[in-house]
Amino acid sequence: MKSFYTVLVLVLFSLNAFGQKFDLAKTPPMGWNSWNRFACDINEDLIRQVADAMVATGMKDAGYQYINIDDCWQGTRDSLGFIRPDPDRFPSGMKKLADYVHSKGLKLGIYSDAGAHTCGGRAGSRGYENQDAITYAQWGIDYLKFDWCDTKGLSAPASYATMRDALYNAGHPIVFSICEWGDNNPTQWAPETGHLWRTTGDIHNCWDCEMGFGTWSKFGVLNILDKQNGLRKYAGPSHWNDPDMLEVGNGMTYIEDRAHFSLWCMLAAPLISGNDLRNMSKETIDILTNKEVIALDQDPLGVQCYKMVDFGDYEIYAKPLANNEVALCFLNRGKETIKVNFNWKDYPVMDGMSGVSLDFSRDIYKVRDLWLKKEIGTTATPLKADLQPHDVIVVRLFK
Ligand code: GLA
Repeated sequence: MKSFYTVLVLVLFSLNAFGQKFDLAKTPPMGWNSWNRFACDINEDLIRQVADAMVATGMKDAGYQYINIDDCWQGTRDSLGFIRPDPDRFPSGMKKLADYVHSKGLKLGIYSDAGAHTCGGRAGSRGYENQDAITYAQWGIDYLKFDWCDTKGLSAPASYATMRDALYNAGHPIVFSICEWGDNNPTQWAPETGHLWRTTGDIHNCWDCEMGFGTWSKFGVLNILDKQNGLRKYAGPSHWNDPDMLEVGNGMTYIEDRAHFSLWCMLAAPLISGNDLRNMSKETIDILTNKEVIALDQDPLGVQCYKMVDFGDYEIYAKPLANNEVALCFLNRGKETIKVNFNWKDYPVMDGMSGVSLDFSRDIYKVRDLWLKKEIGTTATPLKADLQPHDVIVVRLFK
C-alpha cells in the first residue's frame, strides 16, 4: 500500500512537471538579458529602466516579454542557506523588482549555475537547488537561466533534471533555460528537461570571428549559424535550440544586425535582446520590432529552417511555416555583392520533417519582402536583386 502511494505521488509530481513544461514557451521565448551589454555592471535601477524601455519602444507590443537578470545579482546566503541579492545593487530585493516588472505586463528572469559558483564567481546553486527554487517562486521569478561553470565531475543531465524538478515542485510556472554551451550532448536529454538549451559557446558581436580565451571561445554570427546544421530535428514547441542571445544594437553594422536578427528568426531561436534598450537608434528599434520577421520566429508550427542552397558565400535558408507556407532567407556571407537570379521552378520546397511542400512548377505563390515590407512579385518569374555584402533578403510566400 505504501509503495502504491509513493508511486501515485511520483506520478502526480511528474504530471505537474510535464504539464508546466508544455504550457510554457510554445513559441520561442522573447525578451531581454543583461549579460551581452552590461555583464556584471547591473543594478535594480537598470532593470526597472529596461522594463520601462521595453514598453516605451514598442518591444513589448512586438512580443517581447521577459526581463532577464544574468550573472552578478547574487549576494551571500543567510544562516539557513537562502540566497539573498547583492544589497548594494538590489537594495529593494527581488520580490519588489518582480512586482514592478509585472506591473508593466512583463516577466522577470534570473540566473544561477549548477556548480558551487557561477561563471562570474558568485554563489551557485549546487546543493541548494530546492531552496533556490522555492526562493525564486516566492519572489515571483518567471524564467531561470542555469549555467554550467564550476561543475567538474557533475553529470549535466542529472544536474539539470534536479533543478527542473525543484522548480516545478516549487509550484510557480517558470521557463527553464539550459546553458551548458552544447558541451554534454544536450539534444539527447535537454528537450525533456528545459524549454531551451544553448547549442554553442557565447556569442560575440562580430559577423565572422572566433575569440579565444584559453579554455573557451566566443563566436560571431556566421560561426554560430554554421554550428546549427543538423540540429533542427531536436527543436519544436516548448523545446528550442538556443544559439545564444542577440547582439543587435551592440556594434555591428545595421545590415549585419538585420541579417543576424533574420537568421535567428529563421532558426526559431529564442529572441533575447542583449543591448541597452534605453538608448537605441531608430534602426535598432526597427530591426528588433519588425513584426513580420518576428512572426517567422513565432510561427506556431515551430520548425527551424534548413539550408536549401549552398553556393559558398551565397546561401539560401528555408523555414517551413504553418498552413503550408514558407519563408526563405537569401544570405550574402561574403565581401562582394551577389547578383541574385533565383528561378523558383528549379527549387521546390520539400521538407520531409514538417511535411511542408511547395512545388513552384505547379502552383504560383505571391512573394513578400519582409524588410522592404511589400510584395515584390510572384514565383512565376525569377527573383532578381542585388544582395549586398553581409545582407539578407527575407521573403514569405503565400497564396
Ligand atoms: C556564461 C554564459 C553567458 C553568461 C555568463 C555569465 O559564459 O554562457 O551567457 O551567462 O556565463 O557569467
